[in-house]
This record gives sequence, C-alpha cells and structure tokens, in this order.
Amino acid sequence: MDTLIEITKVISFTLGGSILEVSYLIASVLFIIGLKMLSHPDTARRGNLWAALGMSLAILATILFHRMDGEPIGNIGLIVLAIALGTLIGWLIAVKVKMTAMPQLVSFFNGMGGAAAALISLIEFQHLARLGEPVNMGSGFMLAILLGLMIGSVSFAGSMVAFGKLDGRVGDIRNPVMRYINIAFMVVLTAFVVFLMTRGSVEAGAMLPYLYLFFAIALIYGVSFVMPIGGADMPVVISLLNSFTGVAAAMGGFLYSNQAMLTGGILVGSAGTILTVLMCKAMNRSLLNVIVGAFGGGPSAAGQEDGTIREISVSDLAVLMAYSRKVVVVPGYGLAVAQAQHLCHEMDKILEEKGVEVKYAIHPVAGRMPGHMNVLLAEADVPYEKLVESDDANPDMPNTDVVIVIGANDVVNPAAEDDPGSPIYGMPIVKARDARNIVVMKRGMGKGYAAIENSLFFHDKTRMLFGDAKGSLQKIVNELKAL
Ligand code: TAP
Repeated sequence: MDTLIEITKVISFTLGGSILEVSYLIASVLFIIGLKMLSHPDTARRGNLWAALGMSLAILATILFHRMDGEPIGNIGLIVLAIALGTLIGWLIAVKVKMTAMPQLVSFFNGMGGAAAALISLIEFQHLARLGEPVNMGSGFMLAILLGLMIGSVSFAGSMVAFGKLDGRVGDIRNPVMRYINIAFMVVLTAFVVFLMTRGSVEAGAMLPYLYLFFAIALIYGVSFVMPIGGADMPVVISLLNSFTGVAAAMGGFLYSNQAMLTGGILVGSAGTILTVLMCKAMNRSLLNVIVGAFGGGPSAAGQEDGTIREISVSDLAVLMAYSRKVVVVPGYGLAVAQAQHLCHEMDKILEEKGVEVKYAIHPVAGRMPGHMNVLLAEADVPYEKLVESDDANPDMPNTDVVIVIGANDVVNPAAEDDPGSPIYGMPIVKARDARNIVVMKRGMGKGYAAIENSLFFHDKTRMLFGDAKGSLQKIVNELKAL
C-alpha cells in the first residue's frame, strides 16, 4: 500500500504539471462546446452540463496538481468546505427560486462572480504587501490587479443594484446630474490607475491605502452607474454587467497564469459584449449612453391616457381566432408570471388543427432577461420555427388577422415611436397596432416595467380580455375545443 502511495506521489510530482495543463485545455474546450450548445433550446441543457463538467475538471485538477514553488496547495480542508458550502447554498437557491425570480437570481450570481474577481485582486495585492519587497507598479501584472479590482467591483455593486431593481425593491434615480457624476467617477478611476501605475518600484504595503480607496470608489461608481438606468434600458445594462464579470475573471486568469480561468473569463466577457451590442441595437441606444448612464427620456408628453377601453368575451375571441387565417401571439413578462406557456401552446395547437397559421412575435427584451420568451416557450415545447423576431414579424403585421398580446406591455407600446419624451422612445417595438384586430390579455390596467401608459390599449382596433393569463387561456382553450 505504501509503495502505491509513493508511486502516486511520484507520478503526481513528475506528470502533475502536464496533467494540469491538459486538464485546463480540456476544460476550455468543454466551455466552448457548452457555450455553442447553449445557443439552441434543444441542446442548451446538455451544453450547461458540459460547461459545468469543464469547470469541475478545472477545479479538481487545480486542487490535485497545482504546485507553487514545488509545494502542493495548502488549506485543502478549507477549500473543500468552501466548495461544499457554496454548492449547497447555490443548489438550494436554484431549486427554490420561482421561474419569475430567475432574472434577479442571474443578476445576483453575476454580482458574485464580479465580487470573487475583485477579491482575487485585493488578496493578491495584500499578499505582495506581506512579502514586504518592492514591486514594479508599472507591470502588466499590476495592471491586471487594478483592472480586475475595478471591473469586478463595478460589476458586483452594479449587479446588486440591478438585482434590487428587478426585484422591485430599488427605484430609479433619474436626474441629469447623474450623467456628470458618472463621467466624473470614470475620470477619477482612470486617473487612479495612471497614478498607481506610475509609482515605479515601491513597497506594495505603502500602496495598500490607495488600493482600498480605489476599491471603494469603484464600488460607489458601480452603484451610481446602474442607479439612474431603469425602464426599458435595463436589458442593456444587465448584459454589460455580464461582460464586466467575464473580463474581471479573465484578469484573475492572467494573474494566476491559469488558462481555464482566462478562457472562461474571455468567453463570458465576449459573449456579454456581443449580447450588449445586440441589446443596444434592439433598444436603439448607443453603448456610450449606456456607459455614461442616466439615459432614457425625460417626463413623457403622453401623461395619463384617456379613451375608451373595449372588452372582448372569451367566446367572441375564440370565434375570431378560429375563423382567422393568421394569428400572431406577442408574449411578454405577464405570460411568465402566469406560467401560462403550456396553455398558450395548447391554444396554438388547436388553432393550427383548425387551419389557422400561428406565429409568435418575439421582442428581444420581452420579459426580464435576455432570451426570456425563447426559454419560456421552449419549456412548453413550442417549435423554435414558430418564433419570429419582432423585426421580421412586423412587415407581415398588416396581413395578420388577430394579434394577441399576452402579458406584454412595453414591447408593444406605440410611445416608443410616437412620444419623444417617453423613456422608451426609439426602442423598436412589435407593431401590434398594424394588425387587423388586436386583443390584449392582462389582469387590469397595470403598467409595464417602464411604468408608462400604453395608448395601444385605447386603440380603435383593440379589445381587452382582463384576467390572469393562465385562467383566460384555459377558458379560451375550452371554448376552442367546444367550437
Ligand atoms: P412589461 O412591460 O413588464 O408588461 C408586463 C405586463 O404583464 C404588465 O403590464 C401586467 O399588466 C401584465 N401581467 C402581469 N402579470 C400577469 C398575469 N399573471 N397575467 C396576465 N398579465 C399579467 O413586459 P414586456 O412587454 O415583456 O416588456 C419587458 C419590459 O421589461 C421592457 O420594458 C424591458 O426593457 C424590461 N426589462 C427587460 C429585461 C430583459 S433582459 N428582457 C430586463 C430588465 C427589464 P397587469 O398588471 O395589468 O396584469
């Protein structure tokens, strides 16, 4: 037995480095495969598992084979305890969370990633300070520490504010002054990086107070950066914060010369950046506006809408749809709240059996997280081919007999086109008002996320079906079956 342990130790000592490198390479490949598979609902679940396997492999290989000055890593007990605690807490949160609270959870987890990356930088600098030797403040290593600390802190603080906003606990602070405050913060943080990096060769301990101040300013900036952003502009900031966390983690990978961490960080950073660009396009905003913050319109010119609300009965709606050629469903956040996706698909199948063509017009920011409606409808097995991006659905809207808006509000609000004072002005919308008949299903006259009136509900062609989407859809399905 003793000989076996000795042999294992020798193998681990001589081959450990190579095994570690190969494990990181395999982990990186698994991340890439996982990410690729995440791009389609059919493969997304497996993609997630492949990426998780890659991460597990990277962690295990690090614990077993990482060497520092020839020594294996210490504190194994503490590391295993931390992993076990983190896994348990993460698992409990993930199984308990309601589907509607998923966006908040994603923001929270993203913030945790940012915090971890910032703490890596902080701890590495403190380690250098403890060594008491002079460090070159102008090195690439130091730049990685400073950027990891700054970006990670902004991502953490910003994600916590985004979490509060998505949860409805934090309101927006919209004030034009915030724009200048945020620009000032960016200038101060950049100046701080330049100041620290031009200190030459100094003892790291002497720089620690500056580093703590830098950390604090980055945290405050994270809060003030997200605080003014609200209404329809949240999706852009959420994907931007995702990319920040990726870049901050990549800085950690650079510090530790850890390829798996570097690749993982770069993948998250670039995926987040691509998503940010797509969201900016979807919202018709420039990235500069997002970074400076405090964008969105001033007070809306529309104010309180007054007009006549017309209702439709379930049986009239069932008849209207059953005798249509083409019906377009516009799903929104309320469909997710009601968890009515399965009934929605059932309604769509009955209509198709009756020869009606049914499509779903998907707005890029419908719901509360990127791809929310795609995920929701995939859960109900709605064929992917039936989902049409709003830009592609709009030209055919005049040929649509009935557009049925289920729990959506901001994404069909004509104020985005008509009211320059509106906070959603400029955002492309699903042009539901171009259809021949418009039916809106919601519980009452509640506003959407941007908290503004919607003139579509008062349109001549619009009829409202009030009630929880699940209850209403169940009644529609029953009625359609009876026809
Ligand atoms: P919203 O504008 O938020 O409107 C949802 C509507 O659903 C509400 O007006 C509500 O009206 C109705 N509703 C709620 N519960 C319902 C239920 N159980 N049954 C039926 N209806 C229900 O949704 P949207 O059109 O999907 O727009 C999304 C908004 O969120 C956009 O402003 C977007 O910018 C923002 N946002 C998006 C994201 C991402 S990444 N997608 C992230 C953050 C913010 P009642 O109360 O009258 O029922």
